[in-house]
Amino acid sequence: MNLAVLGAQWGDEGKGKVVDLLTPNFDIVARYQGGHNAGHTVYVNGRKFVLRLIPSGMLHPGVVCVIGNGVVVDPTALFQEIDELMQAGIDVNGRLFVSGSAHLILPYHRDLDLLSEARRGERKIGTTSRGIGPAYEDKIARRGIRVGDLADPAGLDKNVRDNVNARNRLVHDSTMDADQVLARLLEQAERLRPLARDVSLMLNDAMRAGKRIMFEGAQGTLLDIDHGTYPFVTSSNATVGGACTGLGIGPRSVGAVMGVAKAYTTRVGEGPLPTELADDMGQRLRDSGNEYGAVTGRPRRCGWYDAVAVRYAARINGLDALALTKLDVLDGLPEIHICTAYRSGSRTLTEFPSDVALLAACEPVYETMPGWTRPTKGIRRFHDLPDAAKRYVARLEAVSGVSAAIISTGSDRSDTILREDIIHATLGSLTLQA
Ligand code: IMP
Repeated sequence: MNLAVLGAQWGDEGKGKVVDLLTPNFDIVARYQGGHNAGHTVYVNGRKFVLRLIPSGMLHPGVVCVIGNGVVVDPTALFQEIDELMQAGIDVNGRLFVSGSAHLILPYHRDLDLLSEARRGERKIGTTSRGIGPAYEDKIARRGIRVGDLADPAGLDKNVRDNVNARNRLVHDSTMDADQVLARLLEQAERLRPLARDVSLMLNDAMRAGKRIMFEGAQGTLLDIDHGTYPFVTSSNATVGGACTGLGIGPRSVGAVMGVAKAYTTRVGEGPLPTELADDMGQRLRDSGNEYGAVTGRPRRCGWYDAVAVRYAARINGLDALALTKLDVLDGLPEIHICTAYRSGSRTLTEFPSDVALLAACEPVYETMPGWTRPTKGIRRFHDLPDAAKRYVARLEAVSGVSAAIISTGSDRSDTILREDIIHATLGSLTLQA
């Protein structure tokens, strides 16, 4: 059976670690949306790797990694990442492929991202300024440039010129040189074209041959363009439907769906975050959890676990199980709060509101649980967790409506509890090993 692994909160849940950990169970790992706004961090034997575009399965020799049509690809960022991996001794040759239908992020997209944020002023999104939104805008407006277009220099010439000229009209005082953009792109085409494949065909052939695939989501459910806290979202479908459209596979091929959630909540960028702690406790979570963006270095906003949001993610994605990460960050807290509902005036909401203004006005309703003093860091068996930590996990599962098949207790691959009984019960024929 295949498995989709995606974010059940606002991104940065630790998907990189979970995907890396589970990769030995799969033949192919496929990224389906987003771009180099993602920063999937993986620690192996104390060594840190940050994967932005390349699937987090890349660190396992022999596993094939694909970047689907739903991803927006900045060739400069992709080559930089390939070079970094090669320098670290990870051979990507012959096992990294990019969909010919994936759209490219070109230099003008980055400028337009900055411009659009500046024009929004106080209403800015707080994007990663990687050009993600403008690249998806071009895709939807049917003027985007795709990896496959690199095979047709004449068509490319016209389209790039049209796009650069349109951008020059939009950006005051701008004289971006289309010749330069084209020259650089044609140079990059030499390196990118050999990686291009019909990813849908490749994955469907692989499945027919009995191969197993893991689908890797980027960002998180609450940042999804349709189901997130619009307009404070990214420009792609980070939810499970994105795996189908972003790779060209049927819904039955997705198999099981695992949501990754932190044992608390973070968000980077603007937009409502009901459980946000703008106090010492928020700073404590930020410090212990090292909650600074893997891509931009921005401090993340931190708060208590929001079960309303995770329940919503379970509904939108049909989650079979959770991977609960960073439990160890809560070590040593005297008490821990869990948000189980929202209050809006005299109303109590148990469902996540689709109206962002209503969400912004909501107050969290908390349950309080005792913390634990004995550290959980590095614990590998559920049995070895302090009783209060076991009770905290059980309560999170009950209020989120999903069981935690995996619990992460540290950044290294080995700092992980795999709960075989829950894996067996929730993921059925998928028997995962670390
Ligand atoms: P964009 O994806 O750069 O357009 O940014 C849109 C929103 O999504 C901003 O609030 C970003 O901070 C957020 N975002 C984008 N990528 C990530 C991610 O990988 N982790 C967490 N937040 C992200």
